[in-house]
Amino acid sequence: MTSMQTILKKLPSDLDQDRLPKHVAVIMDGNGRWAKSRGLPRIVGHRQGVEALKNLLRCCDDWGIKALTAYAFSTENWGRPLEEVEFLMALFERVLMRELREMMAENVRIQFVGNLVALPQSLQSQIQRSMNQTKENKGIQFTVATNYGGRQEILQATRAIATQVQQGQLQPEEIDEALFSRHLYTANVCDPDLLIRTSGEMRLSNFLLWQMAYAELYITDTYWPDFDRTQFHQALSSYQQRDRRFGKVKK
Ligand code: FPP
Repeated sequence: MTSMQTILKKLPSDLDQDRLPKHVAVIMDGNGRWAKSRGLPRIVGHRQGVEALKNLLRCCDDWGIKALTAYAFSTENWGRPLEEVEFLMALFERVLMRELREMMAENVRIQFVGNLVALPQSLQSQIQRSMNQTKENKGIQFTVATNYGGRQEILQATRAIATQVQQGQLQPEEIDEALFSRHLYTANVCDPDLLIRTSGEMRLSNFLLWQMAYAELYITDTYWPDFDRTQFHQALSSYQQRDRRFGKVKK
């Protein structure tokens, strides 16, 4: 490893190791615009977006962040031109096949959240394979939201809980935040502390609506494929300057 790589692996000295977010979520926006600004087809932007995501995953791991969740495909994204949707599905599948060995080597535990049964069968198989193979890994928890919608997730949790009540297994009074959280796709990870959205839009876009109740938001104009370690460093610096009170008064 070169000395430059060793330096990059270390947490920048102005960041406080003890006050890092445990879980970072990202809305990877701007792949299409990145490509367009270079006179390239949109799909080139998505391909470059995968590289940016891989780099961020590695960076989180290097710097001691325990969980990363990325919004790869929303329930609304089916409304894109068929050609682009098909490209994205094929891209996810290829990336999973190509990167599984690397994820094993780096001890990454990958999981997919969303309405997965609506995805192409061959992608579902790759998803299952990657989740099964990495499930005992003890490194970073990497969650990919695919065909994911926050409202849809809340509805499926509500239905599951309602069924338990109907069958007499649960009393309505027993439904509290902790129980509800356990019925979400993300039951095994803590709520995100920091949401990063690229390319300037100031929206949640139906992403982790329940889980994001107290997340700090960081929005940058940078297009997703250009989001690198320097940019992430800036996001973390901004996060560490926030005063997180969770609705309380500071003591
Ligand atoms: C948003 O840019 C990006 C997407 C809808 C796709 C993001 C997916 C990846 C980067 C691949 C992740 C892959 C795996 C397997 C984890 P946009 O198309 O909305 O850009 P625009 O807003 O400029 O049009």
